[in-house]
Amino acid sequence: MKRILISSRGKPEQLAELFRKALPQHEILIDMPNAGDAPIDYMVVGRPAPGVIASVGPVKLVLSLNAGIEHLLESGEIAAHTPIVRMVDDGLAGGMTEWVLAEAMAWHRNIRLYERLQRDLKWEPQQEKLAHERTVTVLGAGALGTPAARNFAALGFKTNVWSRTGREVPGARSFAGPDALLEAAFGANILVNLLPLTKETQNIVDAGLLDALAKGAFFINGARGAHVVDQDLIDALDSGQLSGAALDVFRIEPLPENDPLWHHPKILISPHVAAPTHMHIAVQEIATNIQRFERGEAIPHLVDKSLGY
Ligand SMILES: NC(=O)c1ccc[n+]([C@@H]2O[C@H](COP(=O)([O-])OP(=O)(O)OC[C@H]3O[C@@H](n4cnc5c(N)ncnc54)[C@H](OP(=O)(O)O)[C@@H]3O)[C@@H](O)[C@H]2O)c1
Repeated sequence: MKRILISSRGKPEQLAELFRKALPQHEILIDMPNAGDAPIDYMVVGRPAPGVIASVGPVKLVLSLNAGIEHLLESGEIAAHTPIVRMVDDGLAGGMTEWVLAEAMAWHRNIRLYERLQRDLKWEPQQEKLAHERTVTVLGAGALGTPAARNFAALGFKTNVWSRTGREVPGARSFAGPDALLEAAFGANILVNLLPLTKETQNIVDAGLLDALAKGAFFINGARGAHVVDQDLIDALDSGQLSGAALDVFRIEPLPENDPLWHHPKILISPHVAAPTHMHIAVQEIATNIQRFERGEAIPHLVDKSLGY
């Protein structure tokens, strides 16, 4: 009987129950094995504490409960030859698309502004624009960036999408690689970050990139806090280069109380909820990947460790 160890700080018992139903022929464990126990075949991980993965020893596959896996690579605890499978599922893609569109549309149609004006009983109609009068640039054309960009395009926004290899998204203009970054962002009214965090993408949202946007643009970050140079973001908001920002992710989470991002009047904070992992969908996805592996079939969404995503 193959053994699966779950290492997750969030509700491991509940996860184990779901795995026992999805993979009844496997032994599901949530407690660390003792020395001398039979080896673990697969590890299912969220954000394991330092040392946990290393102490389990070699496994056949590491299956992530999250889409972002930079913490697993940074830990250095996974052997070079052990494949890592990212979480890609309809729940994550749907959740992220909803959050990005909700923030974008609330800005585009001045919903938050009218909310503030209502508090002062102010009747101040703004010059409302149509979607086709705005440009959106989405950074990242992967499992999350593609559906977001496709939906912007379907709503009529002029849509640019930037990726490493110039991946095509229906209805959007595609840009590839570092040389095309500023061109992709130039004149955009909304910038959406859905990149993975790698050596190449950390600090990518800086003054240079924000300056390329249209004056008064809106920035939406659903990816990772370390993509953004926070002081450059604050400066762009203070100068009026940006009119607002919706941030779901931060360098330190939970965001410390004294962090200036909390207190900035033009920043909307959400507590890393843009695309939460839906347990039952994630378990089904992981179970299917384990079954594929055991039948000797190819597994989708393997991490390319040399690229970092
Ligand atoms: N806030 C939340 O709740 C939440 C939830 C889930 C995920 N996330 C974040 O979202 C990120 C993206 O997830 P995903 O599933 O969409 O990732 P993905 O499928 O791996 O897609 C990554 C995209 O980024 C592009 N890219 C990577 N490195 C690049 C570079 N150096 N320059 C230009 N483009 C680059 C890739 O280009 P190619 O297409 O050319 O390979 C690809 O289009 C995750 O890594 C995670 O950090 C956040």
